[in-house]
Amino acid sequence: LYIETIPNFSNLKLKHLLLCSLKTRDHRPYRVIKRLRAVVTMSGSWEEFFATHLPPTDFEDNRSLLKEFCERHDRQGHRIVLVTSGGTTVPLEHNTVRFVDNFSAGKRGSASAEYFLDQGYAVIFMHRLKSLEPFTRHFNGQKLLDMLEMQDESNNTTIRVKQDSVFALAPVLSRYQAAHAAGAILHVAFTTVSEYFWLLRAACEVLAKSGPRALLYLAAAVSDFYIPKDSIPTHKMQSESGPPVIQLHLVPKMLAPLVNLWVPNAYVVSFKLETEENLLIPKSRAALEKYKHKMVIANMLQNRHQRVLVVTRDANQEILLSREELLAGADIEAGIVGVIVSHHSDHLAHSEAR
Ligand code: PMT
Repeated sequence: LYIETIPNFSNLKLKHLLLCSLKTRDHRPYRVIKRLRAVVTMSGSWEEFFATHLPPTDFEDNRSLLKEFCERHDRQGHRIVLVTSGGTTVPLEHNTVRFVDNFSAGKRGSASAEYFLDQGYAVIFMHRLKSLEPFTRHFNGQKLLDMLEMQDESNNTTIRVKQDSVFALAPVLSRYQAAHAAGAILHVAFTTVSEYFWLLRAACEVLAKSGPRALLYLAAAVSDFYIPKDSIPTHKMQSESGPPVIQLHLVPKMLAPLVNLWVPNAYVVSFKLETEENLLIPKSRAALEKYKHKMVIANMLQNRHQRVLVVTRDANQEILLSREELLAGADIEAGIVGVIVSHHSDHLAHSEAR
């Protein structure tokens, strides 16, 4: 009876658990009900979000790609990391001319994806369309064209890499080709926050099968606010109608169902972005406490490529690049990924020992 009264209750596993407890007249079901209540209270609004936002048009194609990729790497016993990268948008019109955006160039995610590949991980790179991507990030803007030279000899045009650019291009090209030859990276793209959540849940569905070998690295900058679908106009807002009044609603935090229901055995790393230093540690600790995942990478907007804090239940570890290292083009992501891989190995060893 209790289950029937819970709105949108769909988690069959927990339902089964509760029914078993009731059948055996075990008094512990009250504890189970308490757990259920917690999950359902957390989850009510995320289920509503999925119920009111349709999946993106290319969703089924992406779902098949994710399934094929994960099954292939799972068969080979590889570790798989989901790297999310770039900012999500919130459209202000259905035929979107204007939108609210979350700041992120995609440097954190794209650089990290390269270092995870170096460490032997299969990488699902889930990124905001047109944000930075692994390998090509090194040649953004006009950099690539500046590395090339053209020669015209009797109607025969050849294009070559300038000799002094070979040292910059060769190592990136060789890592890129190795990753693609091994089928070790899959790119999937989102733009809006609802596309992001649909893809995130689909990726989790297939990653759940990898158990503790799955790592989630949630570096994307995800909107906390959105405008419900039925409150936005179909067509471009007209200025003749006067200044629009737009009311933003809170987006449910997807970390809650993700950690508790979608990938309960995976190693989950979330990010915390702040602009006030004094909030950084308390908010990261509060997130660990609330969602019960494994790690928060805390960073300040202003110096995010020079300093981060790795926050776990037991410690805060600082990773810092010197000014010289930064000027020489070092990536702080190499250090971040190194620390995470070591924690992920401990998590795996611990799970196997159980
Ligand atoms: O791309 P760059 O320019 O290099 O910048 C990198 C970065 C600063 C964007 C990155 O390092 C970073 O901090 N990303 C997370 C930004 C963010 O969304 O922080 P938040 O405090 O709003 O959210 C914290 C966590 O909750 C995130 O891991 C997010 O995945 C999750 N979240 C957020 C909103 C939401 N509705 N549900 C969520 O689960």
